[in-house]
Amino acid sequence: MDVSIIGGNQCVKTTTIAEVNQYVGQQVTIGAWLANKRSSGKIVFLQLRDGTGFIQGVVEKANVSEEVFQRAKTLTQETSLYVTGTVRIDERSPFGYELSVADLQVIQEAVDYPITPKEHGVEFLMDHRHLWLRSRRQHAIMKIRNEIIRATYEFFNDRGFVKVDAPILTGSAPEGTTELFHTKYFDEDAYLSQSGQLYMEAAAMALGKVFSFGPTFRAEKSKTRRHLIEFWMVEPEMAFYEFEDNLRLQEEYVSYLVQSVLERCRLELGRLGRDVSKLELVKPPFPRLTYDEAIKLLHEKGLTDIEWGDDFGAPHETAIAESFDKPVFITHYPTSLKPFYMQPDPNRPDVVLCADLIAPEGYGEIIGGSERIHDYELLKRRLEEHHLPLEAYEWYLDLRKYGSVPHSGFGLGLERTVAWICGVEHVRETIPFPRLLNRLYP
Ligand code: 4AD
Repeated sequence: MDVSIIGGNQCVKTTTIAEVNQYVGQQVTIGAWLANKRSSGKIVFLQLRDGTGFIQGVVEKANVSEEVFQRAKTLTQETSLYVTGTVRIDERSPFGYELSVADLQVIQEAVDYPITPKEHGVEFLMDHRHLWLRSRRQHAIMKIRNEIIRATYEFFNDRGFVKVDAPILTGSAPEGTTELFHTKYFDEDAYLSQSGQLYMEAAAMALGKVFSFGPTFRAEKSKTRRHLIEFWMVEPEMAFYEFEDNLRLQEEYVSYLVQSVLERCRLELGRLGRDVSKLELVKPPFPRLTYDEAIKLLHEKGLTDIEWGDDFGAPHETAIAESFDKPVFITHYPTSLKPFYMQPDPNRPDVVLCADLIAPEGYGEIIGGSERIHDYELLKRRLEEHHLPLEAYEWYLDLRKYGSVPHSGFGLGLERTVAWICGVEHVRETIPFPRLLNRLYP
């Protein structure tokens, strides 16, 4: 029980909206904000939120003092207040409860809140992201993002993985040198991390099965619904895992995320209007196509603008995903399309032992992963072919000198996964403060 002194009055906050179910028929006080209000003569309906949830407060003229009733009628949107009332079961409310209000105490009156219940343009909402986060829709998305993060830790911890933190400031670039954010590190050059993978490979040789989870940066001049400049990536890396083991872990992990959200975030999925029947299908095994088969499928579907050796664009990924109702792996891409560290297929060195996982319903690639090269000479040759400075990768090559073993890993993009599971069109809504092309504020 929290006790606060507001304007000289003592206010006892007895509970939160999420926990009112424990107080049916009893009087409680909650600290809240006014999300919206509607009045009809002798009743004022207050849509209240406190971060833990939303609830309707009903203020009836007959049940409260004239002063409280007038106060309720004149409350402005986003005013903060303490509300005291009796908890009642309300079958019609999606939340299941309402508050029959007895008293209201304003903490701070909000004037001219810019985000009104009417429609606003995206740029306006993005400019007000610090306030937009309070809306029901954004609240639901952030809760689901949080559940995906929680389930990630649970999944990997339950399977004996150790969480290892990768540095953000780095001296080398795993995913190619064109999309790097450059900065000075005293007298040296440094880059913001594009991926923690190389560090996870070192960690896997020390701890067996590891994962990192952190922000990554790509200076990509892409303005699409799938690209962020700063995004969060989950990067597991496993010693002694080969290509096949890697794919099995991925389908188990992605299914675990979806089933966890279905179990724990029903209310939020409902608020977003998500078709959960599509999510219920997400269970292992996932379909697989080789790159060669994917090209063939695209040609059959009439997408003839792509040839063997080209990378897939969003329309290609969407066309492939349309043929399946689960996420689909595309495996064995041409070696020329992929980073230096991927293990070539021993039977066919023009392709690598990699897979991208494409989400259903047009949400695009959510995972990129591969078996890694574990032979010293081959890795050195690949670095040279990519014109990468060997000095910067000396430590990485060391891993192939002292007890090198086959190993594999992958990176799951958190925001694209959240967008898919939430059924949200654009990744800008799936991260609290998106960094996009031309947007560094708020
Ligand atoms: O395929 P990517 O580039 O893979 C890597 O970085 C590997 N080093 C990961 C690893 O094996 N440890 O990126 C992995 C995932 C993509 O599938 C996508 O979901 C996400 O990261 N991603 C982005 N998400 C949002 N905005 C961007 N600009 C993204 N670029 C990649």
